[in-house]
Amino acid sequence: MTIPVGEIRSLLEEYPRTPVVGTVGSHSALDIADGAVTEGLSSLVLAQAGREATYAKYFRTVRGHGGGRRRGCVDDVWTFPHFSDVVAAEAQERLRTHGVLLVPNRAFSSYVALSAIEDEFRVPIVGSRNLLRIEERTERENYYTLLDRAGIPIPHAIADPNAIDGLAIVKLPHATRRLERGFFTVSSPEEYRRKSAHLIARGTITADDLATARIEEYILGPVFNFNFFFSPLVPREEGLELLGVDERRESTLDGLVRLPAAQQLELSEAARIPEYTVVGHGTLTVRESILEEVFRLGEKFVNATREHHAPGILGAFCLQTCLDRDGHPTVFDVAARIGGGTNIHLGLGHPYGNALWRTPMSTGRRIALEIRRGVDDGRLKEIVT
Ligand SMILES: Nc1ncnc2c1ncn2[C@@H]1O[C@H](COP(=O)(O)OP(=O)(O)O)[C@@H](O)[C@H]1O
Ligand SMILES: [Mg+2]
Repeated sequence: MTIPVGEIRSLLEEYPRTPVVGTVGSHSALDIADGAVTEGLSSLVLAQAGREATYAKYFRTVRGHGGGRRRGCVDDVWTFPHFSDVVAAEAQERLRTHGVLLVPNRAFSSYVALSAIEDEFRVPIVGSRNLLRIEERTERENYYTLLDRAGIPIPHAIADPNAIDGLAIVKLPHATRRLERGFFTVSSPEEYRRKSAHLIARGTITADDLATARIEEYILGPVFNFNFFFSPLVPREEGLELLGVDERRESTLDGLVRLPAAQQLELSEAARIPEYTVVGHGTLTVRESILEEVFRLGEKFVNATREHHAPGILGAFCLQTCLDRDGHPTVFDVAARIGGGTNIHLGLGHPYGNALWRTPMSTGRRIALEIRRGVDDGRLKEIVT
């Protein structure tokens, strides 16, 4: 059974006054750690053996004689054989004893089973534990159903491959690298059959995943991932903030688009099918007249989560959009937690976050600031689940 929010919140009664900001060592952990230490808190990274050097060596905090940080932002690293070991009973006990508040990132919700996070992980999560599952496209209640109810534009779903009529994207996991994508685009039922057979034969996708894949309209336009923050600690009308906007670099898609058309046509048919593995991020701003619509979408998302998934979104979230020919955003994906691209404003802040806060404001720092306010005002309970 899902751990009641009240049970998690009462764990804070045993916590030290100043909590430690912990996160799983991948995805956006550096932004979270950097933000924590910038706000005067200490940071902990839960790493997996073999993947810990970034945190344990290269960004590890080194203290000077006075005890102050001389370099680095990762104060402590606990290494586990597997990420999923963070839910083991001893690990949970250790996290609670150290006063750790866990900031969930996609590494946490991908490498640890969602059922374990929901039913067993008795450590306060800064954010919305119950919303992590909406990211799973194969769930009955997922982000598409939520966005639809919220009145937020989403790409039209195509229920039957025979109804494909125009550019569409087929969304399913990669056959072997399960956390990566086996996405492909098609324009007709015939192309769907030909391409899917080819991708199954080359081992990129499986027939089973294809059967439950989401097929949707391809929105032709640039990707803008809007990194928002919602605070329940201020009046509702001040709660929503836009901190920054990122875009992704995806292989092999971005490699292909850097080739002139003549060279693209020289590639084999297999090489012409792009892969969508995220390998990095860039930063963007959006045309100013589009901002208001972006805020409207953010407000609708906040309201819908509060109505349908109480207590609703708490803290960072990301709406991933494509802007169509008229500049209207369509949301094709949601992160109900810190987005994957927030390292774009790691340490530096982002034009929007900085303009709002009058100081460098990254998502990691904003999360830490919220924790600090929660501690100072005795309202920490309201931002954890
Ligand atoms: N409906 C769509 N139209 C156009 N591009 C899309 C659409 N859906 C996804 N994409 C592209 O695929 C990438 C990954 O899609 P996304 O739904 O975010 O998958 P994931 O959940 O694996 O992150 C996006 O960054 C975007 O480039
Ligand atoms: Mg996405």
